[in-house]
Amino acid sequence: MTPIQETIINKKTTNKPIWLMRQAGRYLPEFREIRKVNPNFINLCLNENLSSEITLQPLKRFELDAAIIFSDILMVPYGLNQEVEFKKNFGPELGSINLEKISNINEKDFLNKLYPIYKSIKKVKENKLTKNKDVIGFVGAPWTLLVYMINKHSPKKELIRDFFKDKFLINKILIILEKFIKVHIEHQIKNGATVIQIFDSWAGLLDEKDLPNYVYTPTLNLVNYVESLSVPVICFPRGIKNYKKFCEFVKPDVISIDYDIDPIFISKEIQIPVQGGLNPKILLADKESLKKEVLKYLDIFKDHPYIFNLGHGVMPETNPMQVDYLVKLVKDY
Ligand code: CP3
Repeated sequence: MTPIQETIINKKTTNKPIWLMRQAGRYLPEFREIRKVNPNFINLCLNENLSSEITLQPLKRFELDAAIIFSDILMVPYGLNQEVEFKKNFGPELGSINLEKISNINEKDFLNKLYPIYKSIKKVKENKLTKNKDVIGFVGAPWTLLVYMINKHSPKKELIRDFFKDKFLINKILIILEKFIKVHIEHQIKNGATVIQIFDSWAGLLDEKDLPNYVYTPTLNLVNYVESLSVPVICFPRGIKNYKKFCEFVKPDVISIDYDIDPIFISKEIQIPVQGGLNPKILLADKESLKKEVLKYLDIFKDHPYIFNLGHGVMPETNPMQVDYLVKLVKDY
């Protein structure tokens, strides 16, 4: 069993496995080299040789317990024939929605478009660098993908006005998303993903009263689906206030927490394995401050099944030496 599986399945508390969100990314000079000559991000995700190489880059440097596939949650809208583009210094920009076009897409066309992602996962899984480690596949939760599909770019702090105006459109898209997210999960697992993480980056934009409809129920359906394939599932409903209620409704195998939530409260109130929490900004600080914060999380979750990770992705300004130091701190604990 891998260290992460021991934490999730056996609820082991004596080891603290570690991987980092955005562990393959712009803070690594070897990633920037590849990115420089590959300005189209989508094409890069669809190049199985390069995307598998990028996925493995952090494992060559650091003693991490998992690889996370280099791809993006917006590859699902792309697979559904919505235009998706990543603009420099702006982020993703999506084209307008054509409900008829999206409703008519079949599984075969979707899989044909995303086929290189599955080949990339297979390559990563077969590489010796992932021996006795997990290969993490992932999807965006229906709510977060809906936000991008309707809003067409990152909502930053709030949704566009009239977001909920066309309930028919929203409900229709949510049904289509659930179907194709499941297809995407299935094929990641078939090709070697051993854990699935569901990113709900914009869960925090919703009022409490809308969470059951847009977050709990659609995510629960996905959690049940992943579990039916005998693979553990990690949920990351970023920015919600009530993680305890989320866990009661959705029952994931692991809950990933952001850095706004009090880890002491989580360790007391939540019984299932926990992941993450550390503010990625602390990697920009001096070693002493970093050490203090890392030990804080390790101490709080000493007797809890805990996977070390951040409360959000590694920032592009991060010095890789700091990541090295962080991984060593966790391994030597
Ligand atoms: O964690 C990993 O390293 C795996 C790969 C991964 C990427 N995106 C690669 C990426 C994962 C798991 C994601 C998830 C993702 N994508 C989320 C959920 C997590 C979160 O950040 O809340 C979201 C919301 C997206 C959508 C997205 N992709 C945005 C908003 C942006 C632009 C912001 C940014 O950081 O540049 C991206 C681009 C993106 N996705 C990059 C990477 C490495 C940067 C692209 C570049 O090199 O310019």
